[in-house]
Amino acid sequence: MEFFDVTKVYRDFRGRPLAMGVEGLSFAIREGETLALLGPNGSGKTTVIKLLAGLLIPTCGRITVGGVDVIRKRKKALEKVGVMLGDARSIYWNLTAGDNLEYFAALRGIYGKKSRERIKTLAGLLDFESILTRRVGELSRGMRQRLLLAIALLPGPRLLILDEPTFGLDVASRHEIRQLLREVVSKRRCAIVIATHQMDEAQELASHVCILRQGKAVTVDTMQGLIAKMSWAIDGQAQSSPWLEEVFLEVIDSTDKSTGFQRHDFGEGRKAGDIT
Ligand SMILES: Nc1ncnc2c1ncn2[C@@H]1O[C@H](COP(=O)(O)OP(=O)(O)OP(=O)(O)O)[C@@H](O)[C@H]1O
Ligand SMILES: [Mg+2]
Repeated sequence: MEFFDVTKVYRDFRGRPLAMGVEGLSFAIREGETLALLGPNGSGKTTVIKLLAGLLIPTCGRITVGGVDVIRKRKKALEKVGVMLGDARSIYWNLTAGDNLEYFAALRGIYGKKSRERIKTLAGLLDFESILTRRVGELSRGMRQRLLLAIALLPGPRLLILDEPTFGLDVASRHEIRQLLREVVSKRRCAIVIATHQMDEAQELASHVCILRQGKAVTVDTMQGLIAKMSWAIDGQAQSSPWLEEVFLEVIDSTDKSTGFQRHDFGEGRKAGDIT
C-alpha cells in the first residue's frame, strides 16, 4: 500500500477548516511488512488509519492498496483490507459475538456454509469459541478486542489496519494479541499498519516505523535504519533491548527544537506497482 503526499484537513459543515489531520504524508509498505505508526496524542495516527480504510476522504494526495486507488476504486481497493478500530463502537453490543461475525461476514459478501466455516476457524485461531453465543455487552474488553480482530480478519486480508489493538488490555492479553498478529503475518504474508502508543509492541511487531508529529512524518524508516541513525547506536546496533522509546523521545525532542523534518525512504526500487 502507498500513501503519496496525503493531506487531510478536517472541516466543519460550512467547510471552514477545524484541524489538520495529516499533512504531506508519504510512505509505502509491501506484503510481509509491518509499519508501526507512532506519535503523541493528536499527531494523526487515527486519521491515517481511517484514510487507509476509506473512512475519510483525503483533502489531497493519493492512497493506493495493491496499486488500486482507494478513492476512485474504493470497493476493489478495500476488498482484501481488514480494519480494526481502537474502540468497540463499530460492533453491535446487543447481538452475540457469533451474530456480529455473521453480520460482518455478510457485509463482505460471505454467506452460509462459507461464513460458518470461516467464523469457526477464526474463533479457533483467536481462542474464543466459548463466547460466540454471548452478547458483546457481557464480554470483557480483552474478548471484545479478539472479536474486533476476528472481524478484521474475516475477508482474509492482504492488508490489516489496526488502531491501538491492545489498548486497555492486561499484560497477558496484550501478549496474546501480539502473538496472534505475528502468526497472522507469518501465515498470511499480509501487510500490517498498526497505530500504537506501546513502544515495546512496535519494536516487537514492526519492520518499519513512521513517527508523526502534528500531522507530519518526522521519521519514516525501517527499524534497522532507525537504530543506525540514532546518536546512541554503536556500529549501527542498539545497545539496550527496549530501545524504541529512546528513539521516539529523541525524534520528538529534536523536532521540538527545530522546524526541519527528517524524511527517510524505505529503500531503493519502490514503485506503486510492486507494493501491497
Ligand atoms: N472528526 C474530527 N474533527 C475535527 N478534528 C479532528 C477530528 N478527528 C481528529 N481531529 C484532529 O486531527 C488531529 C489528529 O487526530 P488523530 O485522532 O488522528 O490523532 P491520534 O494520533 O490518533 O491521537 P491519539 O493518540 O490521541 O489517538 C488532532 O488535532 C485532532 O484534534
Ligand atoms: Mg488515535
